[in-house]
Amino acid sequence: IYGPKRKNSRGVNLNIRSHYEPLMEKMASFMDKQYPVKPLLAVEVKEDAANTHRVTSPFDRGQSVGTVQWTNQEQARQAVDAAWEAFPRWDATPVAERAAILRRMADLMEEHMAELMTLCCREGGKLLTDGVDEIKEAVDFCRYYAMRAEESFGEVIELPGPTGESNRLTMGGKGVFAAISPWNFPVAIFCGQIVAAAVAGNTVLAKPAEQTSIIAHRVIELLHEAGMPRDVVQLLPGDGPTVGSVLSSDPRITGVVFTGGTDTAQIINRALAARENAPLPTLIAETGGMNAMIVDSTALPEQVVVDVIQSAFQSAGQRCSALRVLYLQDDVADRVIEILKGAMNELHIGDPRDLGTDVGPVIDEDARKGLLAHIQTLKDEGRLVAEASMAAEHTQNGTFVAPVAFVIDGIEALEREQFGPILHIVRYKSRDIDRVIDAINGRGYGLTFGVHSRNESLAAEIARRIRVGNVYINRNIIGAVVGVQPFGGQGLSGTGPKAGGPHYLQRFVTEKTVTNNT
Ligand code: SER
Repeated sequence: IYGPKRKNSRGVNLNIRSHYEPLMEKMASFMDKQYPVKPLLAVEVKEDAANTHRVTSPFDRGQSVGTVQWTNQEQARQAVDAAWEAFPRWDATPVAERAAILRRMADLMEEHMAELMTLCCREGGKLLTDGVDEIKEAVDFCRYYAMRAEESFGEVIELPGPTGESNRLTMGGKGVFAAISPWNFPVAIFCGQIVAAAVAGNTVLAKPAEQTSIIAHRVIELLHEAGMPRDVVQLLPGDGPTVGSVLSSDPRITGVVFTGGTDTAQIINRALAARENAPLPTLIAETGGMNAMIVDSTALPEQVVVDVIQSAFQSAGQRCSALRVLYLQDDVADRVIEILKGAMNELHIGDPRDLGTDVGPVIDEDARKGLLAHIQTLKDEGRLVAEASMAAEHTQNGTFVAPVAFVIDGIEALEREQFGPILHIVRYKSRDIDRVIDAINGRGYGLTFGVHSRNESLAAEIARRIRVGNVYINRNIIGAVVGVQPFGGQGLSGTGPKAGGPHYLQRFVTEKTVTNNT
């Protein structure tokens, strides 16, 4: 039931000229547009110049995208009031009506693909190919959750009982959800969280990442245009401490759906737990990873390198699924490293608006500084294996980091996730495979994992023993597809349920059993 009835969005094929050219023409009209945006709340929001921030492009810090007025604490509290009030009415709205809004939203995003892609590029620094994937994923989330909501919540479940007694199980929204989303998937994850919570009957306060508030604003405008009431989904751009502290301390927030760093998830968890007289909260968190890949001596080196380059460096390594630690069996390590060096030399780093670019900028100066500090430490230790070259004329005005590979002793040597184009390589001997598996599991993260081997039983055995949410065998480890590879981790990587999977919506609802002695 999860497959044949449903098709994922086709998007645009950028390798086909007749697809690519009209899209570029449309995108051109949004390339210089300036977006002055404000919170989108149920109540009117007054201008507040002192609380308004300029947004520039990661690939050229001289280029303005617009301005964002941040939400203040008073407005955040008013937004909770409105969401709380709207909840009973929204929860009583038939699921088919709620699902219809998601389907209209999917159609609208396809219609506005050029503008959304342009914004992903200008505000998020995304390559065009990543932009297409991003919008497709958001569209798929809308259609998939609409379908799953109708299948799961559309009917009352009649349960058995003694004669004269009826037992019925119903499902409804939990209340008000805060949706706190990251900048690396500013349309897909942002939209996916919100529509999942809303289609299940909850009202939603969406707090986008500071870095991608303009994209978020455009998405919520489209969602309202699709028919989502303005008090059911509100947008609260702003900084984490200001908006987050109001949301996580208010006893009327029944749940938080969060994607971001593990540390932030732990802060939210503690804040929710510290509330007095508040319902026990639901926390749905998708957090970081320290994703590994094991390559044994039977693997095909050329294929390994293609998959490693994509997994580690696509989206400038700014995916929670991205490959961080590559374990190479000794017999094959030299060959893989040699081909990898060649492939890294071919990478073109630069303007994400050019179709020929392989690696765009990282999101901001803070991110760049953090990555460069880690790179310098490993260089000082003499661990450099390969570094892509970066031409100053393409990169001087932006926040770029050249893809780089180092050799390290093991995953346990890494203190934290490095969210960028940095690959760590570990050589291992075949007799040490158990120790490798234990080290990866022992690190505590559990998001994605890859294995390259033509020994099917060994690959299956490793896949069975690794404790992660998504295992990929003989392919890259990024780009989970909605309804095909439900996505999400375990341990330090998240609470589940898996986004784009058949059970995701279940965590957003509460079940009620009504027993009636007729
Ligand atoms: N869902 C994305 C992927 O699979 C991760 O962030 O790459």
